[in-house]
Parts: sequence; structure tokens; C-alpha cells
Amino acid sequence: MILPITIYSDEILRKQAVMVEGIDKSIRELIANMFDTMYKAPGIGLAAPQAGSSLRLLVLDISCMAEYSHISPMVAINPVILSSKGYLAMEEGCLSVPGVQGDVVRPATISLQYRDEEFVLHTREFSGMLARVLQHEIDHLDGKLFVDRLQKRERRKVQKDLDAIAAGRFAASYPVAPLVSVVEGSRVV
Ligand code: NI
Repeated sequence: MILPITIYSDEILRKQAVMVEGIDKSIRELIANMFDTMYKAPGIGLAAPQAGSSLRLLVLDISCMAEYSHISPMVAINPVILSSKGYLAMEEGCLSVPGVQGDVVRPATISLQYRDEEFVLHTREFSGMLARVLQHEIDHLDGKLFVDRLQKRERRKVQKDLDAIAAGRFAASYPVAPLVSVVEGSRVV
């Protein structure tokens, strides 16, 4: 099932998401729906708050990119970055911030502890695009968006677009959650 994606000014994107206690039918359904939603958009990663659930859970699949076609789709539940190495600037975008891109500097390699879709615990090192997408999605679980990490000059360049999104003026080729934002003191839906 395709879920509506929450957009920029939605409160859920600013919340600290809650730990998943275990796998049950509702979590399995959420994971399946998140994959459906991500593929339909299309995107290469999706965090649960973007699908309307404030849970520490993310899905990703970067195999649509030629150089990563051998990489399997991945589910990460309750992910924790244990350590990181190096720094890399890379252009990012986000399904919750339609039409906006910008360079974000993040660690190049991370050591990650997480649980898979069977709730089995793993500790693994990730680099390249996987490390990038994981860090972007983990930010979503902590109420952070990539635009918060843009350098001042770059942030100024996109501020107009962000204001437009907050006011409901944006185009997205996928279903989005109804937007409630505060514009000049009045609540508009
Ligand atoms: Ni995102």
C-alpha cells in the first residue's frame, strides 16, 4: 500500500522517533508499505516518520543506481551510529522536501548497529552511497532534515523554496500527507 509522504513543515518530521520493541504484524505491514511508497515515489530511502509513523525504522534500496545494482534492499530498525570516519560532501534531496537539493557534508564511513526485519542485531561498517543514505534516514529519526545541515550560503539559496513548501506551494509526483502549516498567524490546511 502506498502511504502519503509527510512534507517539510509537518511536526512528525521534527520529533525524536520512538524505539521499535519488536516485530509484529503492524511493523511487517509498515515495512512493506514503506517499500511500496519508496519505490512508487521513486526514492532510494525512506524513514518511518516520512510515512507518518514516529518509529526508529528505515528502508532503503540503492540498486536502481548502476554502480550499486548488486546491493540488496535493506531494513534498519533502531539504528545507532557507533563511530564514523572521514568527511565527504555529496548532493542530497529528500522526498519530504520536494524539488530542493543541496550539498551536505557527512562522515564518509560509519559503523552501524541495527536490527533487520527479523529483529536480528547486526554491527556493520558502511561507506559510499549506503553510508550516505543511512545517515540521511537516521537524521529523520532524530527530527532532522538535510536542509538543516546545509552551509549558510547554500541554505540561503533554498530558503525561498522551503518557504514555498511550508506554504503548500510545491509539486510532487507522489501522494503527500495533508499539510498543516502556520502562515501569517492563521492555520491553513
Ligand atoms: Ni529524506
